[in-house]
Amino acid sequence: MRIVTNIFLAFLTAVLLTSCGASGDRQGTEYAPNMYHSVPYEPYTQIVDKDAGSWLTSIDYGDGHAEFYNSNQWNPNAMNMRLPPANTVSRNKHGWLPYRLGKDSLAFAARSLKNPLDSTAALIAEGKILYDTYCDHCHGATGTGDGKVAAGVTVEEPGRGQVQKGTYNGVANLKGDALKNISEGHIFHVITHGKGLMWAHGSQISVEDRWKISKYVKTLQK
Ligand code: HEC
Repeated sequence: MRIVTNIFLAFLTAVLLTSCGASGDRQGTEYAPNMYHSVPYEPYTQIVDKDAGSWLTSIDYGDGHAEFYNSNQWNPNAMNMRLPPANTVSRNKHGWLPYRLGKDSLAFAARSLKNPLDSTAALIAEGKILYDTYCDHCHGATGTGDGKVAAGVTVEEPGRGQVQKGTYNGVANLKGDALKNISEGHIFHVITHGKGLMWAHGSQISVEDRWKISKYVKTLQK
């Protein structure tokens, strides 16, 4: 009995060790490989070896390839994803190009950018949701600069009584005389790149959403 157990343990160890031999395109021994290999074409991974996975199944794919092969025979070099033409710039679903004006172009942006979105009630309502998510905590629900982050918190400190802590000073009052007439392009640019004490939000908020917020801020300022 003991020898059977030993042989079994040795066998198990050998299997475990060989299954660890992963490198480059070889992913090591897989348990239930059908679960890892995508049947449809994958844009970023593809298996070019026509025989890969031939041990696994007897399905006849017609052109003689085996289970894991998923290259696209109609594209150049059997690639799954085709190369875009040279100098292609991706556009979003509206056909808009990426926003390229740099941080120091505020004056130009404020003067020349027009909000490409219409002023529908639904769009302004979306702008409000976005404003409440990304701006409210500093600029406050009505835009006067009294958000919770700006105000900080009042804490009771031994011997010092009520102390105001963690205030974020200098948050702009969007309804003040200095800002109430700024253009939507100005707001869009400031959201994108930040300004002075305000950080940039361009990487968190999509171009479309930034325009929605700009529209909503104008309604707040009225
Ligand atoms: C972390 C706090 C904070 C958040 C979040 C924040 N802001 Fe600001 N914002 C500031 C501060 C501080 C200033 C004043 C910047 C300065 O003049 O130094 C400012 C200034 C502004 C200005 C005036 C720019 C000018 O030309 O003087 C606008 C417009 C503005 N913010 C819009 C927004 C919008 C819209 C959002 C939401 C997407 C937002 N801010 C999010 C802190 C914040």
